[in-house]
Amino acid sequence: MKNIAIFASGSGSNAENIISYFNRTKSANVRLILCNKPEAKVLSRAERLHVKSVAFTKAELDDTSRISDILKEERIDYIVLAGFLLLVPPALIEEYRGRIINIHPALLPKFGGKGMYGDRVHKAVIEAGETLSGITIHHVNELFDSGDTIFQATVPVTATDTPDSLAEKVHALEYRYFPEIIEQEIQKSEAAEK
Ligand code: GRF
Repeated sequence: MKNIAIFASGSGSNAENIISYFNRTKSANVRLILCNKPEAKVLSRAERLHVKSVAFTKAELDDTSRISDILKEERIDYIVLAGFLLLVPPALIEEYRGRIINIHPALLPKFGGKGMYGDRVHKAVIEAGETLSGITIHHVNELFDSGDTIFQATVPVTATDTPDSLAEKVHALEYRYFPEIIEQEIQKSEAAEK
């Protein structure tokens, strides 16, 4: 069975949803939560769900060696970014090429890139007068939000939407699809290994 590490910086509601999904399906195992913010809610969620967690600094991420050792010790096959705000360093991308997946709360290639996260994304979508938003699940490369798209799903943006109401609709899509798409990606690569 493949092991997943989730990198998160904030609340971690997606991380919790992914952990619960794989606890039910048993098709993969969320073995580790990695977090660059010692006060982030995702760490208390990990504790409650009995998933090992590790906090690290940006310098440790950029240097890569400690993180890379932990990933090896825990025999991690896949990395999932769920609300992770730092750029993944090239050495880690190289080690996990094609096996790092991110979710972005809008329809890339629009509304992505450095600084485009959380409410800023939803505010920008509304201000641009878009009638559709949604989620983009994609492979991670050396740049923010620019790896190959794996999956997109949309929601309408209405005239009365606020960043909060749009975030709620987008979160619903994230919970609905992200775990299944991760599972499909893992199954595809397992099939290719045979
Ligand atoms: C999600 O909207 C995700 O798309 C984005 O960051 C947010 C994380 O939310 N990358 P949560 O921490 O999972 O609640």
